[in-house]
Parts: sequence; C-alpha cells; structure tokens
Amino acid sequence: MAIRLGDIAPDFTAETTEGTIRFHEWLGSSWGVLFSHPADFTPVCTTELGLTAKLKDEFAKRNTKVIAVSVDPLQSHKEWIKDINETQNTVVNFPIIADADKSVANLYDMIHPNANETFTVRSVFIIGPDKKVKLTITYPASTGRNFLEILRVLDSLQLTANYSVATPANWEQGQDVVIVPAVKDEDIAAKFPKGYTKVKPYLRITPQPNLG
Ligand code: BEZ
Repeated sequence: MAIRLGDIAPDFTAETTEGTIRFHEWLGSSWGVLFSHPADFTPVCTTELGLTAKLKDEFAKRNTKVIAVSVDPLQSHKEWIKDINETQNTVVNFPIIADADKSVANLYDMIHPNANETFTVRSVFIIGPDKKVKLTITYPASTGRNFLEILRVLDSLQLTANYSVATPANWEQGQDVVIVPAVKDEDIAAKFPKGYTKVKPYLRITPQPNLG
C-alpha cells in the first residue's frame, strides 16, 4: 500500500554499506531522508549520490541522517562507491541499503511496475523525529533530483515544527513566512515578537523567526 504523509515510516532491518541497520533505531531522534535510485553504475544515480555526499554538512546542520537504497547487492554497491568517489570527487559518507530481495523497495512502494518492473523509481521520503513521514516525492528514473529542494523542505518542516509557521510558494531561507491558521491573533504578539503583517485574516506574514 502507498505510504502517505503522517504514516509511521515502516521499520526494517537491512544490510547496508555501513553494516546492518535497524532503521528506526538508526534514525534515533534525528530527521531522516530515505531515497531510492534505480540501479548501481548508472550515470544519473552516480551524480545524485556524489552530490548527497557533498551535502553532508548541510544535512548535519539540519540534524538529518541520509540513507539510499537500490535493489543491487552489497558487493555491487561497494564497487560502485569507488566510482562515485572517483568521478564525483567526494567520499560517500552515508549508508546505501543492499535491497536485492526488494523487501525495502516493496515496503515503501518504490517499484512502479508500469514504469519499470524491476528497478525502483527515484522516491524520496523525509521522516521526522517522531518517525512519521513528512514528505514523499517520486521522480522518474531519467530525472536527477534537486537536493537543494530537499534541504529547503527540511528547513520548512523544521520551521513548522518549532515555530508554528508555514512557508509560502518558492520560499527560500531568510524570506518571510506565514503564521499557521491555528495560531490565534491574540497569541501572535507573544509568539512572534518581530511583529507581523495581516494581509487578510488568514494571511499573516512574519519575518523568519529563527534568524537574528
Ligand atoms: C541513471 O541513473 O542514469 C538512470 C537509471 C535508469 C534509467 C535512466 C537513467
């Protein structure tokens, strides 16, 4: 069954390039990004995993652990990592699940048989510290993902979790945000000392609250 926002991310135990991982235990109190790629030794995937490695500090700043999965075996992943490191000028620094029996792929509905019967599509799941799924995105095999967008969504989700704000269309770090409808006007002064603009009763804009 498809995984929907708010569902508990299914737990699993899997072999990875960094040893056996029990997913929920491995996540601990961190945020998580679980993403699938179609196959090892393919060009787009090589660039994606290289870029993810280069973004290590950005994920760490957001208290986020990253884990990749494909249906290739462990030895294949290990060989491919050498190519990723060499061609993308980086060092892969996150685990890649060896899902040869497709158990994780099936658990997360990552194989879309009408697109490809064998390989996973490019799925992304962001998982919160409460182990609930906060975002799902599915890209076709032929389109490499925009990992800056994944960081942007993490920023937005963390602002919502910590400050009762949501982020408007095309929002980027540092721009104004909107106060969620659940916050009453009378509570705004205490919660948002930087002030706010009431454009409409339902559209209340405030500076990004976690910036100096
Ligand atoms: C790739 O990663 O380059 C790729 C994988 C499957 C289909 C098309 C491209």
